[in-house]
Amino acid sequence: MEFNVKSGNPEKQRTACLIIGVSQPRKLSRAGRLIDKISEGFLSTIIRRGDMDGKLGQTLVLHNVPGTLSDRLLLVGCGKDKDLNETNYLKILDSVSSALENIGAMEAYSYLTDLNLKGRDIHWKVLQNVMQMNSSRYQFEQLKSSKKEPVKGIRKLVMNVPSRRDLGIGEAAIKQGNAISAGVSLTKDLGNLPGNICTPTYLAEQSVRLSKTFPTIVTEVLEEEDMKKLGMGSLLSVAAGSRQPAKLISMEYHGGDSQQKPVVLVGKGVTFDSGGISLKPGASMDEMKYDMCGAASVIGTLSAVAEMQLPINVVGIIPATENLPDGLATKPGDIVTSMSGLTIEILNTDAEGRLILCDALSYAEKFDPDVVIDIATLTGACIIALGRNPSAVIGNHGPLVNDLIGSGKKVQDKVWELPLWDEYQDQLKSNFADIANIGGREAGTITAACFLSRFTKKYKWAHLDIAGTAWVSGDNKGATGRPVPLLTQYIIDRMEEMQG
Ligand code: BES
Ligand code: MN
Ligand code: ZN
Repeated sequence: MEFNVKSGNPEKQRTACLIIGVSQPRKLSRAGRLIDKISEGFLSTIIRRGDMDGKLGQTLVLHNVPGTLSDRLLLVGCGKDKDLNETNYLKILDSVSSALENIGAMEAYSYLTDLNLKGRDIHWKVLQNVMQMNSSRYQFEQLKSSKKEPVKGIRKLVMNVPSRRDLGIGEAAIKQGNAISAGVSLTKDLGNLPGNICTPTYLAEQSVRLSKTFPTIVTEVLEEEDMKKLGMGSLLSVAAGSRQPAKLISMEYHGGDSQQKPVVLVGKGVTFDSGGISLKPGASMDEMKYDMCGAASVIGTLSAVAEMQLPINVVGIIPATENLPDGLATKPGDIVTSMSGLTIEILNTDAEGRLILCDALSYAEKFDPDVVIDIATLTGACIIALGRNPSAVIGNHGPLVNDLIGSGKKVQDKVWELPLWDEYQDQLKSNFADIANIGGREAGTITAACFLSRFTKKYKWAHLDIAGTAWVSGDNKGATGRPVPLLTQYIIDRMEEMQG
């Protein structure tokens, strides 16, 4: 799909479809008023008749509007002006893209970038249009023998900017939007692939492939023997039950100067989580193919960052393994030694994410990070606590957590903070080892983060639990690509801050 920005009046645009907002009650936007004037009240008559009252998401297609050069006009309800916030703006874009799938136009010119949204500039609006349009056209069809028809709808979207001076800003936003969309789509693909295809080896191959596409990325893959030498007894204890070899992938993106300390992203890469010997119940177990969505988001974010050629250093680390029951699998009660030296009593083999992350988090020290962010589908408890709207964020450094909250708000990929208070640490006491791998029924998301916090003392760290946000269940089952928008925005914000 192609995107463009232009600046001009709607009645002068020669296009297959003009997209114009109407707010409640029955109020034309500026572009609408211009068309209304030239068409001698054509739009206001329609609105007066009650065919379009501006309700959020309502759409109406008009043909042959007098005085215009366009084949059609798509009126879109934008709700009340005072209610126009980020969420509603995205709802508007959503109904536009469905409406466009049902009409014959191959391209369109949108004036929805003219809508006034408090605190959101033209860059933001263009970016949202690009990301929404790209993501509404995402399909995962590669494993179906008969391909569905390609998504109908426009091939090209032109967005209006207020003046010619804004064209540069708009073009930059399009580039950014396309790069982030490509990262999101890569993350969705990896997530949607089944466990028999997307194995730890497959994730490693994809990471190597990324470094072929982007020479700015250097990928290294450690094998089980390497991990053994590094003392990663915790990670390897999860891999023990699987015939697929575990991999520890690191990807270094060099965009900034070599003095600059990197942002390190660590993504949970459990390519299938059966629970291990603490076997999960059967219902919805297929969804545990998504237990590598943290890893996929690291790959997607690096792809976006490299595509944008951001002048910053970012490292991605992915511990990748399956979690399966087997004669050699780790058993409840087993005690293992992590890379950090801490011994862990594994009371439940289904709490495997923290067991692979802890060694990856120790490994992260070698990159001398400025900050470390781990991303993991870590706890079912997170869905109970927060639902499927925000991801959870927990960290040992307030400003880092706040930065993530702020960046998430900007791109509607929100996170909500949970407390990392010392009082919770007691739940991880073990009678036989330094620490247990589960903390009981209460506050499961927090105690999982408490576990990780024992391994992140040497740097600023934040943990994102994406159990509720990485994919949707039900009829539209599929990966969401979250939190790639949040992570890329965080990196962009950080870079802009550094540049002053
Ligand atoms: N991958 C799961 C968490 C999960 C479950 C994410 C369902 C999304 C949906 C994780 O490895 C897990 O099994 N966690 C356990 C931890 C428990 C044993 C302390 C859980 O949440 O039940
Ligand atoms: Mn598990
Ligand atoms: Zn898991």
